[in-house]
Amino acid sequence: MVVDDLSFGNRDRIGRAKLVQLDISADHAQGVLEATMRDFDVEAVIHFAAQKQVGVSMERPTYYYRQNVGGMTNLLAAMESQEVSRLVFSSSAAAYGMLDVELVTEDMPCNPINPYGETKLIGEWMAQRASAATPLRAASLRYFNVAGAGWDDLGDPTAFNLIPIVFGQLAHGADPVVFGDDYPTPDGTGIRDYVHVLDLAEAHLSALSWTGKPGAGHEVFNIGTGVGSSVFEVIDEISRVTGHSARPQIAPRRPGDPARVVADVSKATKALGWSANRGLSEMVESAWAAYQAAIRA
Ligand code: WQD
Repeated sequence: MVVDDLSFGNRDRIGRAKLVQLDISADHAQGVLEATMRDFDVEAVIHFAAQKQVGVSMERPTYYYRQNVGGMTNLLAAMESQEVSRLVFSSSAAAYGMLDVELVTEDMPCNPINPYGETKLIGEWMAQRASAATPLRAASLRYFNVAGAGWDDLGDPTAFNLIPIVFGQLAHGADPVVFGDDYPTPDGTGIRDYVHVLDLAEAHLSALSWTGKPGAGHEVFNIGTGVGSSVFEVIDEISRVTGHSARPQIAPRRPGDPARVVADVSKATKALGWSANRGLSEMVESAWAAYQAAIRA
């Protein structure tokens, strides 16, 4: 069963699952969530319902806090009152901030640099504290750069990230823009850990099983591939897949962009028995197929 306010979500995408349309940060949301948990005999929750645009979070920080932290508060309160004790929470590598390391491990200090990352870190703290005080068993998944599409009709039309941005530019005959080629990386462009959305989905199933193991407690897991790709490498792959030759234009660095953000995924591999097995080609190919399907629709 799905709870969504459909502010970005699409009813057609949840198949036969029952939908309760609700903004979980609303004043009355706790009661609706409690009734929903009772009515559907809910045993576990995967909590994705949040705002996720870093730029908007800088312009509307209070809105982001109300949506993301308020939503988490109502959810945890409802789970506690209904004795639902298994949670998988969507967190983000944005919780780390500007780490300057080869591989990011979960125990490194978190200093988020925008309200979005702060709301995700606060959500982790809330799950951590609740799991210490109640039977809650929670996994917070720190997503790295999610890309690709699971099916052609499941592209994300609201994604403002490198791959969909470059698709749009190439489709309109424009050149991709590279934010800085003077980083201390082999080709000078920023390196990220792109992870396929299907691998991400499988990580949630593994984490959900983990929450069913005996015991309480909260753990954080990096969800990435452990492999970094530079902006130039991504654009080259997009050129290959789309057949559009790209002439990248170099622009200044984007404020707040670290040189390199790549996950150490050994904790998830060991504790969850999960690892990503799709690479950049499959991400770009599936994202392009979904992009074209969206244009045709
Ligand atoms: C990727 C790389 C850019 C656009 C963001 C959030 C993060 C997470 C994922 C939610 C960077 C470069 C981009 C362009 C470029 N979100 N770039 N030209 O910033 O790594 O992560 O999305 O959890 O919290 O911050 O992703 O896709 O914007 O950028 O050169 O037109 O591509 O500088 O190196 P980012 P991104």
